[in-house]
Amino acid sequence: MLELLYLPGDYNFSGDIMSKLSFQAPRGTRDILPNDQPYWQYFYDTLNKTLQGLGMGKIETPHFENLEIFARGIGTDTDIVQKEMFVLESPDNKEENVRYALRPEATAGVVRAYIQNGMSSWPSPIRLYYYGSMYRKERPQKGRYREFTQAGVEIFGDESPQSDYLVIMSAWEILTRLGFKDLKVIANSIGCPLCRPKYINKLKKYFKEKIGKLCQDCQNRYEKNPLRILDCKQESCQKIAKEAPIILDSLCSPCRKHFQETLEYLDYFDVKYDLDPTLVRGLDYYTNTVFEITSKDDKARQNVLGGGGRYNGLVELLGGPKTPAVGFSFGVDRIISQMKENKIKVPRTRGVEVCILQLGEKAKNVSKNIYDKLSQNDINVYFIPSNDGLRQQIRMASKLNAKYAVIIGQREAMKDEIILRDLDASSQEVFPTKNVIDELKKRLEKCNCKSDKNK
Ligand code: HAM
Repeated sequence: MLELLYLPGDYNFSGDIMSKLSFQAPRGTRDILPNDQPYWQYFYDTLNKTLQGLGMGKIETPHFENLEIFARGIGTDTDIVQKEMFVLESPDNKEENVRYALRPEATAGVVRAYIQNGMSSWPSPIRLYYYGSMYRKERPQKGRYREFTQAGVEIFGDESPQSDYLVIMSAWEILTRLGFKDLKVIANSIGCPLCRPKYINKLKKYFKEKIGKLCQDCQNRYEKNPLRILDCKQESCQKIAKEAPIILDSLCSPCRKHFQETLEYLDYFDVKYDLDPTLVRGLDYYTNTVFEITSKDDKARQNVLGGGGRYNGLVELLGGPKTPAVGFSFGVDRIISQMKENKIKVPRTRGVEVCILQLGEKAKNVSKNIYDKLSQNDINVYFIPSNDGLRQQIRMASKLNAKYAVIIGQREAMKDEIILRDLDASSQEVFPTKNVIDELKKRLEKCNCKSDKNK
C-alpha cells in the first residue's frame, strides 16, 4: 500500500485507476538524461570559473517566494505576472495570509535577499551570481519551457557604466569560453523616471491615430505600458513600431552620457553590438541600459540566449534603501541546445577507468586493498567481489566502458602480481602489485590527453 504524505481532501485516490495510468512529465518540462549531462556540467563549470574569476559570489534563493515580490518587482501588468506564474496552493498560505508563487525569474528574489540580509551595509559593490530552475506557464515550444534553468549576475551599489559593462562582458566571456563565435549584443537605453514619461507621451501621441491597426494585446498595452508595443512580435504592429519616435532621442543628458560610456567600454573590449530602439524587455523594473545576447543568425530574436539591464529603482520598490543595480540572466536550456546545434565539443566525463576482476578467495582480499589504493589516488575504479567467471567479468567491464582491467587470480595473489589488461586493445601485461598505481596513472594520463584533443 502506498503511503502519500499529502493529498488534498477531495482527491479520489484509487489503486485501480493508478495502475492504468501512464505518467508523463508535466507539459513544458523534460528529463535531462545522462548523455546530455556533460553539456550542463561544462556550462556550470565555465560559469563558476568565469564569474568567480571576476570577483562574484554565488547566491541561492528559494524556488518560491511571496507572490507580491514578483508582482511588484516584475510589474502587475506584465505577461509574466498576468499569465505565466505558477501560484502555489498550500494549507499554510491561509494561516500565514500570504500567497506564494514559483519563481518565474531570479532578480526579484535576489533583491529580496539583498534587503533581508542587510547587504547594503556590506562593502559595495555587491557582485552576485546564481544558477537554478525558473517556472513560467508559457505555451511550450522550441526553446520555451515551463521549467527552465537560468544563470545570471546581479551587481548592487554601483551606478557607473563600468558595472553595465562588467555585466555584459561577463555574459559575453562565458559564451566565448564555451565556444560560441558569432555572438551579438542588442542594446538600448530606456531612460530613467525623469526622461521616460516624456518619451511615453510622444509615443502615445504617435500610436493614437494608429491604434485600430494594432493587435488586441497592443491596444491593451496602449494605456498600461505603451513601451511594450515596440517589441510586439506581430508583423502589423512591428511595421507601425518601426516608424515610432526613438527613445535615444528623448534621453536626458545623464542617461545619454551613461549609455554612451557603456557603449564605449564595449567598443574598447571589442564586444560586438547593434543598437535597437525597439528593445524594451518584458519586465517593468528596467531603467537605462537594456540588452540581449543572441547569435548573429537569429535576426528575429527568436532564440535569445540571455538578457538583462539596469534596474535602479527595484531595491527601493521592494522596501530597501535606494540602490543602483544591474544584471542579466542566461537561458541555459537554449545555450545547451545552441551548443549542440553549433557542434561545440565538451569535455567527456571520466566515467569508469579501471575494473578490478578477481577469481578466488585470496584474490578477493587482495582486490579490496587495490580498490582502496586506486580510489585514494583519484582513479575511477569499479569493483564487485562477485563469484562470476572471468569472461563474464570482462564483459561487464566492457559494458561499463572501462579502459583497463586489473585482473587477479589465485596465482597472482600468491606472487603479489596483477595482470593489467587494456580493454580496447585486448592486450595484457603482468606487473608487481606495488607498481599498479604508477602504471595506471601513466596510462590514464596518456588517454586523457587524447580526449582533451577531441574537445
Ligand atoms: P528574461 O529575458 O525574462 O530576463 O529571461 C532571461 C533569459 O531566460 C531569456 O533570454 C531566455 O534565454 C531564458 N528564458 C526565458 N523564458 C524562458 C522559457 N520559458 N524557457 C526557456 N528559456 C527561457 C529575466 O529573467 C531577467 N531576470 C534578467 C535580468 C537579470 N535582468 C536583470 N537581471
